[in-house]
Amino acid sequence: MPAEKKATLLIKNIGQLVTMAGPVPRIGDQLCDIGIIEHGGIAAAGNEILRVGESDDVEGHSPLAEGCTVIDAAGAVVTPGLIDPHTHPVFSMTREKEFEMRLQGKSYMEIANAGGGIRASVRDLRTTPRQQLMEKTTERLDRMLRYGVTTIEAKSGYGLSTESEIKQLEVIRDLNQTHPIDMVPTFLGAHEIPDEYRNNRNGYIELIIDEMIPKVVEQHLAEFSDIFTEEGVYDIPESRKIQQAADDAGLKLKFHADELKSVGGAELAAEMKAVSADHLVYISEAGIKALASSGTVAVLLPGTTFSLAGKQYAPARKMIEEGVVVALSTDCNPGSSYSESLPFMVTLAALELKMTAAEAISAVTVNAACAINREGVIGQLQPGMSADMVVWNMADYRELPYHYAVNLVAKVIKAGKLVVNN
Ligand code: NIG
Ligand code: FE
Repeated sequence: MPAEKKATLLIKNIGQLVTMAGPVPRIGDQLCDIGIIEHGGIAAAGNEILRVGESDDVEGHSPLAEGCTVIDAAGAVVTPGLIDPHTHPVFSMTREKEFEMRLQGKSYMEIANAGGGIRASVRDLRTTPRQQLMEKTTERLDRMLRYGVTTIEAKSGYGLSTESEIKQLEVIRDLNQTHPIDMVPTFLGAHEIPDEYRNNRNGYIELIIDEMIPKVVEQHLAEFSDIFTEEGVYDIPESRKIQQAADDAGLKLKFHADELKSVGGAELAAEMKAVSADHLVYISEAGIKALASSGTVAVLLPGTTFSLAGKQYAPARKMIEEGVVVALSTDCNPGSSYSESLPFMVTLAALELKMTAAEAISAVTVNAACAINREGVIGQLQPGMSADMVVWNMADYRELPYHYAVNLVAKVIKAGKLVVNN
């Protein structure tokens, strides 16, 4: 018989252990079941969860390795580490000027068409030294970790040249080796049309298809390909063409879809069997039905609507009723949503998307894992899965949306190691 694994981490006396055991993904009413064990305990060996159950039971059945970290949660809530499935974290220059311009009445698209927006970030990123990008991105990852996030999806999309897109993806790759947060990389060469191709969009699309995608795939720099499918950016035929090339090259698909206008982005994402379609503020009825039947995850980004001072939020209730898989994310980026706080998105989900605390927690754990192709590995606390978890300064999980704009994280455990101890 193989020797029994000894625990290197034990958390006991957990008031509510939110395991997320149960269906993957969660749809409809299933979102409300977050698999709570009262007075729970959890043991892990390295990055592997060994035992999940009642505190006394787990403690009694888990032989401890020498130097085992034992945490007495003293009645606190423990959840899986949060997963942020849509971020643009690699940039240096911030765009607070544009935030003020919007408050004075200019729209996001007016600023973009005047040469600001994504293209302004691109001009800056191209001349920013790699080391500076590493430092700025690290600061953001540190902030995310302190707010309970243990895995993110991270996009390129501020390079828009082969060299600068690869530079961003290499920053993600390198930080993935050293930072506790795990990053799932996404190629977003089709984020905008860069300045030098404004009069030759087809030339830029060819560059993406013939040069960028092959290089990114050859160097294993991305798992996903994303695109900004929007009026004035990439239309439906262009999006289909670029994403077909990415799919043919072996990348999985994501879409920025129906963020500012209803253009059929959700329908295209479903047709192309994308893993996720994101934003969806202006999704059509047909788009909702299409996502429900394709199983494409709807990643909702209420922080973007909030920060753009939008009046209309994504129709989350309608999507949940229709059986769409719903996840939540920050969209952390310098333009439309500069926040690293996924817990704040849980508050916005409650207030603006009318989701309950349990639904929102499902959307930042198990369903967020599905949005980045990591189901069965993270997003649940189950034997054999990764030991990523958060001990919260709260006794009831419903405090998470309710007690807002403060950091309720007490401890973060990533891959079985204590990495944040507030
Ligand atoms: O998800 N919509 C496109 N991309 C980002 C915004 C990027 C930017 O403004 O820099 C978004 O909102
Ligand atoms: Fe985005």
